[in-house]
Amino acid sequence: LQAVQKILEEHLERKEVFLSKVRIDNLFAQQSTWAGNQVSFLEPSSCVEDFRTQSPFLDNILLLKRNMHLRDRQQAWQNSSIGKEMMTFRENLPAFKEKEAFLLAVRRHQVLVVSGETGCGKTTQLPQYILESEIEAGQGGSCSIICTQPRRISAISVAERVAVERGEQIGESVGYKVRFEGQRGTSTRLLFCTTGILLRKLMFDPDLNGVTHVIVDEIHERGMNEDFLLVVLKDLLVRRTDLRVVLMSATLNAKLFSSYFNGAPLLHIPGFTYPVNIHYLEDVLELIGYTFSEIDQADDYGEDKAWKMQRMLQRSKRNPVVSLAMDALANADLRKYSGAVQFALSQWNPECLGFKLIEALLCYICKNEREGAVLVFMTGWEDITALNNCLKSNPLLGNPNKVRLLACHGAMATADQKLIFEPVPQHIRKIVLATNLAETSITINDVIFVIDCGKAKETSYDALNNTPCLTPTWISKASARQRRGRAGRVQPGECYHLYPKAVFEAFSEYQEPELLRMPLHSLCLQIKSLKLGKIGDFLGKAIQPPDPLSVRNSVQLLETIGALDDKEELTNLGMHLTSLPVDPRIGKMLIMGAIFSCLDPVLSIAAGLTVRDPFVLPVDKKDAAEKVKYKFGKEDCSDHIALVRAYDAWKQAMDAGNAVDFCWKNFLSFSTMQVMHSLRRQFEVLLRQAGFVDPVHEYSNLFSKDLDLLKGIICAGMFPGVSSVWSMESNTKYKTVEDGPVQLHQNSVLSKIEKIPYPWLVFYEKMKSGNVLLRDATGISDSMLLLFGGKLYKSETVGRLHMQEGWLEFTLHTPFAQSVMILRRELDSMISQK
Ligand code: CDP
Ligand code: MG
Repeated sequence: LQAVQKILEEHLERKEVFLSKVRIDNLFAQQSTWAGNQVSFLEPSSCVEDFRTQSPFLDNILLLKRNMHLRDRQQAWQNSSIGKEMMTFRENLPAFKEKEAFLLAVRRHQVLVVSGETGCGKTTQLPQYILESEIEAGQGGSCSIICTQPRRISAISVAERVAVERGEQIGESVGYKVRFEGQRGTSTRLLFCTTGILLRKLMFDPDLNGVTHVIVDEIHERGMNEDFLLVVLKDLLVRRTDLRVVLMSATLNAKLFSSYFNGAPLLHIPGFTYPVNIHYLEDVLELIGYTFSEIDQADDYGEDKAWKMQRMLQRSKRNPVVSLAMDALANADLRKYSGAVQFALSQWNPECLGFKLIEALLCYICKNEREGAVLVFMTGWEDITALNNCLKSNPLLGNPNKVRLLACHGAMATADQKLIFEPVPQHIRKIVLATNLAETSITINDVIFVIDCGKAKETSYDALNNTPCLTPTWISKASARQRRGRAGRVQPGECYHLYPKAVFEAFSEYQEPELLRMPLHSLCLQIKSLKLGKIGDFLGKAIQPPDPLSVRNSVQLLETIGALDDKEELTNLGMHLTSLPVDPRIGKMLIMGAIFSCLDPVLSIAAGLTVRDPFVLPVDKKDAAEKVKYKFGKEDCSDHIALVRAYDAWKQAMDAGNAVDFCWKNFLSFSTMQVMHSLRRQFEVLLRQAGFVDPVHEYSNLFSKDLDLLKGIICAGMFPGVSSVWSMESNTKYKTVEDGPVQLHQNSVLSKIEKIPYPWLVFYEKMKSGNVLLRDATGISDSMLLLFGGKLYKSETVGRLHMQEGWLEFTLHTPFAQSVMILRRELDSMISQK
């Protein structure tokens, strides 16, 4: 039959044969004897395309045609002169030596785990090998390979790279899909997407019908989504025995994954890197001209030496370079460090990293070192932007004729990304300020110098990745080595770690999996929306299951805010929340804001809570700074409304062109305000897509000025973060049930208000540091809490609102209670109807 198809194909190509629908259906019914019949259909029909959907037989013909087209194209490219050049480049990558072994293993086994040094060609080559071999075998048209990436930017840049390697435009055989953006066509066979996108696809297509290969990249990072996906795939593999899964990991921790998949085979790609010289902080300080004689005298490098250095640093903190070097150390995770050093370190608590130190080191490299690009690892968008601004004003580093300063982080525009990979003219020094994105997912070819600040933070501004805001924390030894390795890719390199060796020694071996250290709320919702059964049971099957207690806490929270019912099923609200990749409490607040036509202020609050605090409180001007925040929030007794007012004022200043000045005068961080601004936009798009926002701007903001309503919505979002306010001997106190008495953080506007005229405070975040501190709060009334608080329990005669402070009880038969019940029902149905 195939042979006949081929013949027919050729005739079709030459337009010598046209098929009529009737004939072809007849023929299809008796295909086996068809070969003997004569092929003589002469109807001048030009609508061959019409048959496509109607006749499986013609489908096959078209598929065959596609397959052959793909093969011809691939061969033509590989034989062209640029194609050949590209092949030579690709064949020099370490992955190439393992190509046959890899393809064989994929054919033979359902699951394969591949490990290899960063840059050896896992991401760009391995999926491509599968694609190429399928195309060569004449089956290109029916394969569908999905390769997941933890981050948007790597999905896009890798897809683009692979398209170039194949001599194609993006969106032909290779495409990508990330939230809000995508480039793929009907002929796309290899799709790079974020892990989140694949998880969403699973929601509508739990068996991944039609997908032949799933490749999960960067599993060593142990991201929450990736760990989650592995559990789903493990179940799916039982149902889809033809599905092939490849797991790719950078470090040698691959055994863990292999044993998780019942001893799946491992393939290691031996890598090759040049030696890298290691400099720790003490060496760096010496390089840039500050020596420590006392340290040099010490013999070994134990804690004792580190301690001495701390003391010395402490003494010489008036030296600006040293004091800033200390800044770099100041955020050490003190638990992991010896007592003496802890004490020394705790003497400093500036928020910033040692910008001046980095500046000095960069100048040193530019002046004294050989050619080659510099890669600086920072923690996130905020400090990259701040450092960038700081370096730009340096006469050497800010000179575009000598230095090309570039940033690389998850939030940057796709067009800016390309600049990072471009080579620079000889006399220009390329400096890339990057987040840990450049650690494993992105390879910049010309890097010889690496500066490592030693810390990492998830990209907190990026709501699309659904990562809650984290403070920068020390990286692991594995990450530090990984960062170091980036310097030795093309020739021997230099790595400058901006922390003492003793700090490095105190790093943990590997980063703890996200599943074990992040809130599980969103994940629980996702488990429910994918219909994966009981949350606890499902998460129990993970590689390293989270603590059952924290699972239970999350489920309980979701029940309390009304996203799950008491049978652990998604409610309407819960369903809506799954389409908003943010913390469910923020999501609920956003939905409420949209429903109540109170959108703008709620967007600001949601953005402000996600980035944490745009208000900066410099130690030396603390009083003045606090007054500013107080000014924004005192009237309403609310830190949250202070955010709204600050944003509105900033926006006005922005439109008038004096936002920088405005920020300076009002102690607001300009870059945080910008992040807030872009987050607001992202939230709005999400809400719009979910169908919550009225297309007419005025309608979606009809009640934005109604502060009582706004407080109700804040309450809806903060619940169950509620504390009661009570007075004792002219002293105002606050109490939550879990923690007992709590205090307001000194940065909260409310901590400066003498008498708070509200019986309740709602808050988003609390911290334990000795006392329990509420970071942010809004004062609200009984009625708002009753209306907008979480779950309402009813007995025969009383309604009760389950709250921190025991119960807020009210008799059901009073007119007030009746109205409350009616209103709450109304509210529920409003959400359901959306
Ligand atoms: O995934 P893995 O870290 O193993 O390596 P890769 O991302 O597949 O990159 C393999 C090689 O392709 C790198 O060493 C770079 O030389 C090159 N590459 C590139 O030139 N441009 C890109 N956008 C990505 C990779
Ligand atoms: Mg990779």
